[in-house]
Parts: sequence; C-alpha cells; structure tokens
Amino acid sequence: MTRPRVAILISGRGSNMMSLIEAAAAPDFPAEIAVVISNRPDAHGLARAQAANIPTRMIDHKAHADRAGFDAALHAVLVEEQVDLVCLAGFMRLLMADFTQKWYGRMINIHPALLPSFKGLHTHERALAEGVRIHGCTVHFVTPEMDVGPILMQAAVPVLDADTPDTLGARVLAQEHVIYPAALRLVVERRATLREGRVVIDEFMLAPPALVVPPAG
Ligand code: GAR
Repeated sequence: MTRPRVAILISGRGSNMMSLIEAAAAPDFPAEIAVVISNRPDAHGLARAQAANIPTRMIDHKAHADRAGFDAALHAVLVEEQVDLVCLAGFMRLLMADFTQKWYGRMINIHPALLPSFKGLHTHERALAEGVRIHGCTVHFVTPEMDVGPILMQAAVPVLDADTPDTLGARVLAQEHVIYPAALRLVVERRATLREGRVVIDEFMLAPPALVVPPAG
C-alpha cells in the first residue's frame, strides 16, 4: 500500500526535519517523506536532506514579488509532488490565509513554546525573562493566525535557575524531536481529528511526551 506523502518545509538547520526523516525511515511508520522544500538557498537542512536521499526543492522567496506569488509557487510544487500532508519545521515564513485554508487539517507546525504562551520569535529568551518554571514545545495545525491553530501535542520541560536561552532551548529541542514524529503519526493514522477548532485524540497514548521531563543528572 502506498503511504501518504509528506512535505517538510524548512528555512534553516533542519534538526526537526531530520527527526521526521529518521522516524519515517522505520518500516512501520505510516507516511513517507516525499520532499523537503526550503525558501532559502543557504538552508543547511537542504544538504542534510540530500544526504538522507530525500528529494529537495528550493523556492526562493526573494524571487517572488509578494507573499501571494510565493504561496502560489509553493502550492504548485506541493500539488506537483502529490503531497498529502505538510510539516513546517523551522519554516520562518508567514503563509497567507488563502494558502493555510487550502491546507487546513493537512498542515502542522512545531513551535518552541507551550502555546498559547510565547507565540512568535525568541521564545526561550522571553520564557527566561518572564521567570516561568515550565517551558516546552507544541505541535499544532496551521491556521491563518500565526502560532494559534488547534494543538495536537505538547511537551513540557523545567526551567532551571542556571538556564541560558541556549541551555533551555536545547532542552526544549530534544523534546521537539520526540513529539513531532509522534504528532505526525497521530495525524496520518487519523487518530487526531479536528472537531470545532480543537483536536480530539481517539486514544490515550500521550503519556511519555506530555509529562514534564526531569532535569538531567
Ligand atoms: C525549532 O526550534 C522550531 O521549533 C522553531 O525553529 C527551530 C528550527 O530548528 N520554529 C519556530 O520558531 C517557528 N515559529 P530546526 O531547523 O533545527 O528544526
């Protein structure tokens, strides 16, 4: 049986992309990573995807006069590549409402904070500045408004007194790599459904990633 085809959209180093590629390499993973698309020619993730034998495409946003032009080019590539699902993985480009509506329910994103707290950029700096004791990451469906869509999965980590944005970010990133493949699996297996703007999961299987992860050592 053919597996659903997933596109991963990146702008940078691609560590979440690699976690998805590695998960999908397992024979029992229910989807295949069909293509990696970058909006930046210098994205390090492109070389990493190629090294993993995943086809790559580059759609340079600077080559398009406006957002609508870029979104149209992106949509055309997704259709051409026969993509069923889209994973944004460090894709640092806002998509217009029209595009997100076309892909609603079929496009997910990972964000380095416990939404709805700390939408946007510099989440680890802001979490430290606010003095929160728990921080984390979120996988959610993409909607027109940035970092707002229905939440699929979250993982929480403790914030330690000695943390810097880098140490806290590394603790969060390790959990991103756990929950993103798990959330993709839920969507592909149709165990996560959108109902009235929220995600309903048909089975309780979230225990490990949803727990607060104890500090190392
Ligand atoms: C990740 O931490 C991801 O959550 C974040 O960018 C990083 C990309 O790293 N995404 C966002 O901030 C989106 N708003 P990666 O390229 O190594 O996966």
